[in-house]
Amino acid sequence: MTALRLTDVVMDFPQVGGERLRVLDSVSLTVASGEFYSMVGPSGCGKTTLLDLVMGLAVPTSGSVEVEARRKAMVFQRPQLLPWRTVLGNALYGMECGGQLDGDAEPRALALLQRMGLSQHVHEHPHRLSEGMKQRVNLARALLTEPDLLLMDEPFAALDPATRRRLQDDLLELWHERGFTVIFVSHSLAEVAYLADSIAVLSDKPTRVCGVAKVGLPRPRAATPQAELALLQHAEDLTRRYFATSV
Ligand SMILES: Nc1ncnc2c1ncn2[C@@H]1O[C@H](COP(=O)(O)OP(=O)(O)OP(=O)(O)O)[C@@H](O)[C@H]1O
Ligand SMILES: [Mg+2]
Repeated sequence: MTALRLTDVVMDFPQVGGERLRVLDSVSLTVASGEFYSMVGPSGCGKTTLLDLVMGLAVPTSGSVEVEARRKAMVFQRPQLLPWRTVLGNALYGMECGGQLDGDAEPRALALLQRMGLSQHVHEHPHRLSEGMKQRVNLARALLTEPDLLLMDEPFAALDPATRRRLQDDLLELWHERGFTVIFVSHSLAEVAYLADSIAVLSDKPTRVCGVAKVGLPRPRAATPQAELALLQHAEDLTRRYFATSV
């Protein structure tokens, strides 16, 4: 089953002075239901714009965006927690916005926060949390809405390597368990090789999909630094020809 299909999507933005900037130029891609799909591409090529289109926060200039999902959720690069709410209050916020606050909401939130190692912090406010903890609350807030399509915009880019790996593993575990579809934007080939089934390589503006590489490795991947290097090499081998056509 298909979770997402983009067909010939063009996105222009108006510029100061009246000109139009073509950011996406006939982007087509298909994401299968339950797939862990990643996108890499140069800064400014339109990755966030693509996620906005899928989320329904923007409308393409032309082309079609077909999403097969009951519920979508987005995890941004920065946690963007509400400073006046506690960890629990922030975790519940997504459900609140979606009208999903029922009697079961709080126990479910507490269980997920506990699972993410935050049980000691549920009544604290965000300013007392480390960046990794804030990003876990951000992830919990999205997952509690039970999305079948989870969009992630460089969610772990600002974290140190150990925290990043911990959150990647949390995410993989929940993905295995719940079977939602993930679209994960990253600048790191090593990261997407660790996480994803597919890596879509995007060109610079006006942006096209240069190619989609299938990672094709068993999971779990890369438990040691040596395995990690091998993984990066694998991703580079897989995507090199696409990057070569990306300018
Ligand atoms: N609302 C907007 N109005 C005008 N231009 C925009 C708007 N949103 C994005 N752009 C332009 O579209 C291009 C793509 O932006 P986008 O944020 O999608 O890139 P990105 O690939 O996510 O970059 P990064 O990797 O740095 O996050 C940029 O040139 C940006 O200036
Ligand atoms: Mg971006």
